[in-house]
This record gives sequence, structure tokens and C-alpha cells, in this order.
Amino acid sequence: MSPPPAPAPESGPDSARATSGAVATHALRIDAARLAERLRELALVGAIDGGGVCRLALTDADRDARDLVIGWMRDLDMEVRIDAVGNVVATRGGDPALAPVMCGSHIDTVRTGGKYDGNFGVLAGLEVVETLAATRTDTVRPLAVAFFTDEEGARFHPDMLGSLVYAGGMSTETALELRGIDGTRLGDELDRIGYAGSHPCPGPVPYAFVEVHIEQGPVLEAAGITIGAVTGVQGIHWEEITVEGRSAHAGTTPMSMRLDAVHAAAALTMRVREIVETVGGSQVGTVGSFDVHPNLVNVVAARAVITVDLRNTDANELERAIAELGRACTDIERSDSVVITRRVTADFDPVDFDPAMVDRVEGVATTLGLSVQRMPSGAGHDAQMLARVCPAAMIFVPSVAGLSHNVAEHTELDDLEAGANVLLHTMLDLANEAP
Ligand code: GLV
Ligand code: MN
Ligand code: MN
Repeated sequence: MSPPPAPAPESGPDSARATSGAVATHALRIDAARLAERLRELALVGAIDGGGVCRLALTDADRDARDLVIGWMRDLDMEVRIDAVGNVVATRGGDPALAPVMCGSHIDTVRTGGKYDGNFGVLAGLEVVETLAATRTDTVRPLAVAFFTDEEGARFHPDMLGSLVYAGGMSTETALELRGIDGTRLGDELDRIGYAGSHPCPGPVPYAFVEVHIEQGPVLEAAGITIGAVTGVQGIHWEEITVEGRSAHAGTTPMSMRLDAVHAAAALTMRVREIVETVGGSQVGTVGSFDVHPNLVNVVAARAVITVDLRNTDANELERAIAELGRACTDIERSDSVVITRRVTADFDPVDFDPAMVDRVEGVATTLGLSVQRMPSGAGHDAQMLARVCPAAMIFVPSVAGLSHNVAEHTELDDLEAGANVLLHTMLDLANEAP
């Protein structure tokens, strides 16, 4: 089926004005100032000191951000659907009988997040839609812009939760029963903020999925390259580890008689670093959370709960690190006379993106005259879940000083613009492919 011809636009980018129909869309470009303004407005929701954002999933701030973005989607005449775990998918144009080309990301953040992580991918998607609307450019396939619930996994484990459920990797029932770090039930929080939608999961399978995202690491900036064509995402393993000791008086209890949960948890933390160094390669490991009870100066701690995040691009090496973590727990139970229990809260294999999709991103960037390099992603992303059901790809843009999950997270507007233009043309190419 050939794309319907679009009437000559009355307004829009000069370069596009003389064109008509999807065949002449190569000159289209997104509006960087409009993108920057939406990023600025969204960052005001849950704004924190230092220019950052705190918008943990399904909090009031997340609800307010959802309302704002959905308002923008409706302003663009998009059809908005909310599913049973709160994922939001808005579609525009095309033949409704055909699967849409979907882009998207997330608008939840970590507690000390920046303005761009996730938000850029969603607002770049809206920018694609607005650019097409402004030039009355239609596509053969519908376009969809999504934001997925709890991508960060900072409040409810695992990360990429909404896209995992969308892609059928976890049942809705299981997801709704998850407990957050504050003890709340995910289903209750969804109801509370009014985002328990009526559309079922797994969701409709897109024709393809493309996510533009800040790199969140130092590679592109160091290389002086504008666009990363992402080849895949490393494997991720999360555990919550509880160390049970015995509370005791800090002054009277001889060192030999202590069952010190904090000492044992600290020893385990040191072992995580040793494991990472021993496995080497791309292995990384983090103890990012340390919760102590009763958390008092003069009491030997009865309990410590820590989290461990292990990642590797190589599945076997990641398995090796996980096995070493098990040995470390056994050793420390013996040496410190404590009881250690492990709970796996996320476990995702490394993902390779569809090679043809990676080629496509690289080709679009080159055609637009942008420098591009192939690279794996260190962070987890919704695209890795969508890759379970459809061809998926990611576009990275540089992060200043490689900083992310930090209030100082920054990407230059020129780079955001470049990434959004690669998204625009990758989506246009896909959306105008013959069924
Ligand atoms: C999500 O941002 C993750 O990689 O943890
Ligand atoms: Mn992200
Ligand atoms: Mn993140």
C-alpha cells in the first residue's frame, strides 16, 4: 500500500514546505526550541535542588507528570490508551489495521534523577508527531508514543516493569501484587493516582519499537560522537539481601560475642567490589541501598538489608558473578555468625537488538550528516523488553561528563535535537514501509 499524499503544508519548516506526501519527507526536522520547552516544563514536576527531579513511580509527582504529558498527547489529537499497569500509549494517523511504529520511554525518575533520563525519549516522540502534524505529513502505519510504568524500578522492583508486563514477560496479576520500598502495593498505588487503565496486558505488538535516550555514560562525549547506534543492553541481576544478627549493647558486649549485622553487610559490600574486579571485563556491581535496624549509635545492629546490582554484557560472566556472590554470603554467615537471606528482584539476560534495526539507525544518522558509532547500553531500557516481541532499536546522545541518576545530568540541546531527528527519520522510514 502506498502512503496517502499529504496536502502541501501551509506552515512548518521552510525546507519541508515545498514537499508533499511521505515520499518527500526527507527534509523534515523537529523543532528544538519546542522540545526544550516541554523538557523544561516536565522537569518542574517533582523538581528538586540542583536542577534535578524526584518522581518515583506512582507517586503524586508521577501522576502530575502523567497528566501533563497526556494533555500534550491530546493536544496533538492522539488517541490515548492506558493499560492495566498504567502504561500509556498514544497513537496518531496511519492505517488502523496496521501495527504501529512505536517509540517511547519513561517519565518516572530515581530519587535524585535528572531532567532527561526517559523524559527525552517520550518528549522526542511527541516532537516527531508534532513535526508531522505541522506539515500535514501522514504515514502508512500509525505512529505510537508510549511511556511505561516504573522503568527505573527504584520504587517497585524489577526495573522496566511496565514494558516487561506490556511485552508479556510478567503477568498483570503478579505486577499488581508487587510491594514497593515503602511497603505499598503497586495495584493500590495505581488506583490511588487514577492510572489503573482498562486496556489489557500484554499490549498490542508494534511493527517496531525505537527509543531515543541519553547515553548516561561517558563514551560518546569522550569520542566526540553525536549518535550512538545501540547494539544491545547488558544483563541485569538485582538482589535484596537481608542479614540477621542480634541487637546488643555497644559498650558491654565483647567483640567475640556479637552477631553484628552491619559488620556482616559491610563485609559483603566489600566482597561485591572484589567479585567485580575478579570477573573483570564489562562486569559492574553496586551496593546502592543499605537499611539498618535499629540504626542507633549505641546498639549493635540486629538487621541490615542491602541491595546488590550486578551487570555484564556476557551472560556467562554475569552467572559467574552471581555464583561468587552466593559464596560470599556463605563465607560471611560463617565468619560473622549471622543469617543471610537472598531475594532476587530482577534478572534479565543481555539483549541484542535486531541487526537490521541497528543498521537503520546508523544509516539514518549518516544520512543526516551526524557522526555515529555502535555501542552497547550499560543502563536498562524499555526497548530491551519490547525487543522480546518486535524489532527494537535505540538511539543514544551524549551525556555531559557521563553523568546520570544525578541532578546534574545534562545533554546539550544540539545533541537532543540530533537524536530526535534520527528518531523522526527512523520512525518515518519504518512507518512508510509497505505492509
Ligand atoms: C535504569 O535506569 C537502570 O538501568 O537501572
Ligand atoms: Mn531511562
Ligand atoms: Mn534511569
